[in-house]
Amino acid sequence: MSQRETTLTEFIIREQRRFPQATGGFTGLLNYIRLACKRISFVVGRGALGGATGTAGTANVQGETQMKLDVLANEIFVRTNEYGGHLAAMASEEMDAPYVIPDPELRGRYLLVFDPLDGSSNIDVNVSVGSIFSVLKCPEGVTQPTAADFLQPGSRQLCAGYAIYGPTTMLVLTLGNGVHGFTLDRGFGEFILTHENMRIPVDTREFAINTSNERFWEPPVKRYVEECVAGRNGPRGADFNMRWIASMVAEVHRILIRGGLFMYPKDTKDPSKPGRLRLMYEANPMAMIVEQAGGAASTGRERIMDVVPTDLHQRVPVILGSRNEVERIERYHRESDQGLDQPYTSPLFRERSLFTQ
Ligand code: F6P
Repeated sequence: MSQRETTLTEFIIREQRRFPQATGGFTGLLNYIRLACKRISFVVGRGALGGATGTAGTANVQGETQMKLDVLANEIFVRTNEYGGHLAAMASEEMDAPYVIPDPELRGRYLLVFDPLDGSSNIDVNVSVGSIFSVLKCPEGVTQPTAADFLQPGSRQLCAGYAIYGPTTMLVLTLGNGVHGFTLDRGFGEFILTHENMRIPVDTREFAINTSNERFWEPPVKRYVEECVAGRNGPRGADFNMRWIASMVAEVHRILIRGGLFMYPKDTKDPSKPGRLRLMYEANPMAMIVEQAGGAASTGRERIMDVVPTDLHQRVPVILGSRNEVERIERYHRESDQGLDQPYTSPLFRERSLFTQ
């Protein structure tokens, strides 16, 4: 008899059995998150047929234009997850303040933080997008959670994951015991374990960064990218490849599958923002996944999961992926901060070179 497939539900039950004291509440919560992702996958997959493409004509709390699907995906996440009785409150990129479960009788022990549709500028061009989520414990004794109760460092996450809506829909999950990927079988509507124990190679020759921001980067990031671009004749002695999808879920997924480095570093584009990506519902969950898969996730100056949040929607610089490259960039930050860096200048631009005779 051929080996039986493991569904996501069975996988979660299997994990629950490792903890004899578990009540099943966490398992129940994951089942609702799974259902929300399946629902979003369905509406994203219908595209223009569902009449939900284009902008919603509104802006979120950070002033970004909301797509109709951002609003719809947020609604699906909230409505699906409020029902189970496992959550005390939810916070999302699309909501200014946390949503507290209205009926105190139905409030549970967990807090859910999510980005319902990451990379949504890609929806209308039919490029992969995704949902990112993170589960925290509601502090003991808190029955009416506020934003302050969510402000826990990423190292306190109980679980993190994302769903990617691409050629296939996948759900990638960590419960703090490795990273596991499940592919949605659209035939019978269940996620099947297809990528057990995903690992990120420690070395890579592929990086992802939005180079249109180059003039705003700090010296250590400029140095790193210049060295990569210099290729085999530069200080790295190797040719590098570059990718930019503008959808963090898709970039992290690529890194989990074949290694790589993703950066949205600190820049001076808008001095009021220390980075582009949001700590609570983008950087932290992805950092947990990447670390659990053997990679590293840093702001350049500290581990992302050690950052103590001060605001629900705060932004951080993000550098994550193959461990040796992340550690190299952290070293470049240290050297730069101590005035010890040696910025690389391509031979093309050195004195008496091709362009400067
Ligand atoms: O808001 C998050 C996000 O859409 C990420 O998914 C993506 O990595 C980034 O923003 C894209 O930024 P940019 O528009 O600067 O390329």
